[in-house]
Amino acid sequence: MNIPDLKKARKRTNNKIETKYSLYCLNDFQKKIGLSKKYFVKTYGCQMNEHDSENIKAILEEMGYTQTADMEKANLIILNTCAIRENAHNKVFGLLGRIKHMKQTKDVVVGFGGCMAQEEVIVNEIMKKYKWIDFVFGTHNIYYIPNLIEKAKTKQEIEVYSVEGDVIENIPVKRDSKYKAWVNIMYGCDKFCTYCIVPYTRGKQRSRLPKNIIAEVNNLVMSGYKEVTLLGQNVNAYGKDLDINYTMSNLLEDIAKTGIERIRFVTSHPWDFNDNMIDTISKYKNIMPYIHLPLQSGSSKILKLMGRRYTKEQYIELFDKLKKKIPNVAITTDIIVGFPNETDEDFQDTLDVVNKCKFDGAFTFVFSPRIGTPACKMIDTIDLKKKEERLQILNNLVNQYSKENNDKYLNKVVSVLLEDYSSKNSSYLKGYTDTMKLVNVKADKKYLGQIVDVKITSVKTWSMDGEIIN
Ligand code: SAH
Ligand code: SF4
Ligand code: F3S
Repeated sequence: MNIPDLKKARKRTNNKIETKYSLYCLNDFQKKIGLSKKYFVKTYGCQMNEHDSENIKAILEEMGYTQTADMEKANLIILNTCAIRENAHNKVFGLLGRIKHMKQTKDVVVGFGGCMAQEEVIVNEIMKKYKWIDFVFGTHNIYYIPNLIEKAKTKQEIEVYSVEGDVIENIPVKRDSKYKAWVNIMYGCDKFCTYCIVPYTRGKQRSRLPKNIIAEVNNLVMSGYKEVTLLGQNVNAYGKDLDINYTMSNLLEDIAKTGIERIRFVTSHPWDFNDNMIDTISKYKNIMPYIHLPLQSGSSKILKLMGRRYTKEQYIELFDKLKKKIPNVAITTDIIVGFPNETDEDFQDTLDVVNKCKFDGAFTFVFSPRIGTPACKMIDTIDLKKKEERLQILNNLVNQYSKENNDKYLNKVVSVLLEDYSSKNSSYLKGYTDTMKLVNVKADKKYLGQIVDVKITSVKTWSMDGEIIN
């Protein structure tokens, strides 16, 4: 048994990261455990968790399990959880109630993993109040799931590592889409923004070797994939932990040369966004003109308390440079309101940046204290009602600019990768523009997986409608 330890998770050692090719392997017994059984994986959180779930699903299928979309029919349920805010917790515990009920009537194995499993408080709670959960695994040991399933038959198994992980290269993947793929380029985060739990749940920054990333993208091209999204908590810092003088700009260039039709990347921290990277993005047509550039706050005072290492002015300067140098670029952001000590003036600064930048879109959050982070200990004098009012004001402004930006697309022709049926109407397909705008298109299913020219016929705040033109 290994239980998480936040103090250990905070440590950053200079131990060299190893790329390991052999940690994941199944024995003959494990390959049969799932035969004629069904699994259900529920994913919370960010793209990284989505992609981890693609690994989990592939591992389970190698064990013989088949997927079911109906949790009630599953013999194995795995929750891949997120710890970023309190409401993520609440959702998971809500579902656990339902699963407990299920477990009373049928034999079902339950696994609990992901970022919440990296939190000491959560695992302590599981050991005390959720003894019926069969196994718990962390973000560093997804490869170990087959062993946990095998061992959990007799007692609750908890295996969560707090030390920084290695890079493991041979984990299989079952991708959710046939046309676009997530590709991890790095794991973990070393930024330690004072509000954020991620550096504790995901460990220190570990970049994958360029050759392994490029090989993965080449394979995707050969399998007919049209789009890759390079994933990391802070992709602009890619390579800083490798001693090979190779940066995100080099990587983007090498990925562009694979010929994959569309390249995206998330998330960019403003701090590491350098001119080389901007030049590379504008140079290659297959690097999409879309950047997610979290602002977090428009107040330099709050940014300092957050440990973001840029000021309001520096953010705006970078934003303006991106807009100038990358033709037609769309920029979205993340904003937190109600950080401890955020005054009305600080909040006005945030609105001021939104008014200047007129973002294409923004994810907005009320600050949520995470146990173990420095901001959790800061004295907070603002009441929740005030924070919610600020969120409402901010959302109204963000929506206004989102609609204004979308309005510019009316009657224009844009290229869209049609990736799936529209969620509202199955005679429509949906896809995204190069600038990451969601478009619903009345089109035959033969167009699925194709990048087509679409004329925008109507525009809403969150999406657009369009028709294919020849
Ligand atoms: N690595 C990314 C962000 C990952 S988390 C980056 O640095 O930009 C996604 C978003 O969740 C963050 O950008 C932030 O806006 C929000 N977030 C993180 N911790 C939070 C907290 N404690 N309370 C509220 N929002 C938070
Ligand atoms: Fe969290 Fe900051 Fe790292 Fe993003 S850069 S994951 S907000 S610590
Ligand atoms: Fe959540 Fe972990 Fe992602 S905390 S946002 S799932 S890195």
